[in-house]
Amino acid sequence: MPVVVTGAAGFIGYHVSAALLARGEQVIGLDNLSSYYDVKLKEARVARLAAEKAFTFIRKNIADRDLVETLAAFKGVRRIVHLAAQAGVRYSLQDPLAYVEANLTGHVQILEAARRLPAFEHLVYASSSSVYGANTKLPFSIDDPVDTPISLYAATKRSDELISYAYGHLFKIPQVGLRFFTVYGPWGRPDMALYIFTRAISRGEPIRLFNRGAMKRDFTYIDDIVQGVLAALDRPSQGNAAPCRIYNLGNHRAEPVPRLIQLIEETLGRKAEIVLDEMQPGDVHETFADISAAERDLGFHPRTSIDIGVPRFVEWFRAYHG
Ligand SMILES: NC(=O)c1ccc[n+]([C@@H]2O[C@H](COP(=O)([O-])OP(=O)(O)OC[C@H]3O[C@@H](n4cnc5c(N)ncnc54)[C@H](O)[C@@H]3O)[C@@H](O)[C@H]2O)c1
Repeated sequence: MPVVVTGAAGFIGYHVSAALLARGEQVIGLDNLSSYYDVKLKEARVARLAAEKAFTFIRKNIADRDLVETLAAFKGVRRIVHLAAQAGVRYSLQDPLAYVEANLTGHVQILEAARRLPAFEHLVYASSSSVYGANTKLPFSIDDPVDTPISLYAATKRSDELISYAYGHLFKIPQVGLRFFTVYGPWGRPDMALYIFTRAISRGEPIRLFNRGAMKRDFTYIDDIVQGVLAALDRPSQGNAAPCRIYNLGNHRAEPVPRLIQLIEETLGRKAEIVLDEMQPGDVHETFADISAAERDLGFHPRTSIDIGVPRFVEWFRAYHG
């Protein structure tokens, strides 16, 4: 039975699709190859997946009204891993409607598909650590209130969780929402700090360090995230009235951002030229995941520290960009 992966041309979707293919699953990858960042990188990811016979790619906007029909045309779709989204906190101040289309309309369309596909079994979807917004209690726990998003991106991701809850209640669709914490690794996203810093340092260009570097992030290596996504996919809720669960997937370590820069410098053998800058609107000071529920229910055990993961990213960056 094929697994649908939305956002398959994206960073996490590419790795999740590759892991599903590696364990012998058939994968239908959906993505509209949005131009938010370099489309060539997305095409390169899809080309690698398309080398596998068991992979089918469909270029499609998940917000399209005929999404259900598109998926129904593939017989036997019972599981969806929904990772397509308009990502990025800062860009949500520039193009808010892109977030409404991909993250709100798109999410409802996926739920409609889950509701209408015969014999549908399980939906795993991406939420985000950004839902913790202005919370100051650390580490962030799934039991904490999440009513204070400080960006539209965060508000759409929290809305997705609430909409999912309603669909779970109404239509008994088993679902798991995963709050990812700053995911990084090979084939990563060019709009994220690790990529931006690595590119700038390797070109000898200055890097801007927001909040004068006084920020911490729970950086989570892509292989650990993939393990968590597959574990969630393999464990659908059963027998609950509203079968919706939410987990944090993080590394459970809040790392100072300057440490990230130090690791890039060491791997590249070049010093960064740092420009200290102000805090950016929508950004949070620190993220730190309480992963006890994911450990207990999903057997989620992140294994990759940034000392290992950052050099792996930098090596990929060098190879990819020649
Ligand atoms: N990478 C992280 O650190 C992180 C952290 C928290 C949450 N997330 C969430 O995880 C998911 C995957 O993130 P990612 O880092 O791989 O981002 P990404 O931007 O690399 O991947 C998202 C993919 O979705 C596609 N897409 C966007 N709008 C679409 C639409 N309307 N229809 C079809 N496809 C569309 C894009 O083309 C892209 O390939 C997203 O939901 C994101 O919000 C990521």
